[in-house]
Amino acid sequence: MSKRIAVLVSGNGSNLERLIELSRAGFIDGEISLVISSNEKAFALERAKRHSIPSRILHFNSRSCDAYSDVILQTIVDCEIDLIVLAGFLKILSGKIIERFRNRIINLHPSLIPSFCGKGMYGERLHRAVIESGVRITGATVHFVDGGTDTGPIILQEAVPVLCDDTVESLSGRVALVEHRLLPKAVSLFCKDRLTVRGKRVLITGGSYENSVVERL
Ligand code: GRF
Repeated sequence: MSKRIAVLVSGNGSNLERLIELSRAGFIDGEISLVISSNEKAFALERAKRHSIPSRILHFNSRSCDAYSDVILQTIVDCEIDLIVLAGFLKILSGKIIERFRNRIINLHPSLIPSFCGKGMYGERLHRAVIESGVRITGATVHFVDGGTDTGPIILQEAVPVLCDDTVESLSGRVALVEHRLLPKAVSLFCKDRLTVRGKRVLITGGSYENSVVERL
């Protein structure tokens, strides 16, 4: 049965746009049924509106992370959601939602975890840290969310070279192109029930990953 997906956002929403596009094109056996934003000014809300997808604005309002996550959980349960996707969502989920949706919350991170991740590592600051560190390779990671920050089981990763003349803009732009393929692939695999978590490892089961439709993205 087609899965009902909620996408949580705080900003631009280019990854949300890709997910909508690819689910409507039939590459993902699921429907983007709800968009939740922590920020009323997020352009992602405009994208949801253009595609007639219901959206909610849930402000953090200086609550604790647990209390905020409980509000999100209630909304998700009311909308009968199967999968939660964090695509540029700047708040940390904690408390009951982590257990209730264990291995059913997917996060996208713009580096090769476990490098350049954890508290405060996001946005321009992250890509600047990558450039200043002198590493030759960065990338993107899609993982399940556990109780920590960027510590959950890794579903997919892809490397992106750091070039000598890279700026934050040029590097983040190339990482974003990879993210726009990697996140839909992971969501597609989830919707086909092809992801099995064993400890920290995620097994891609049920047929050859390389020959599967997600490889064509
Ligand atoms: C992405 O780089 C994602 O990895 C990070 O936030 C960014 C979201 O971009 N968590 P967008 O809002 O989907 O354009």
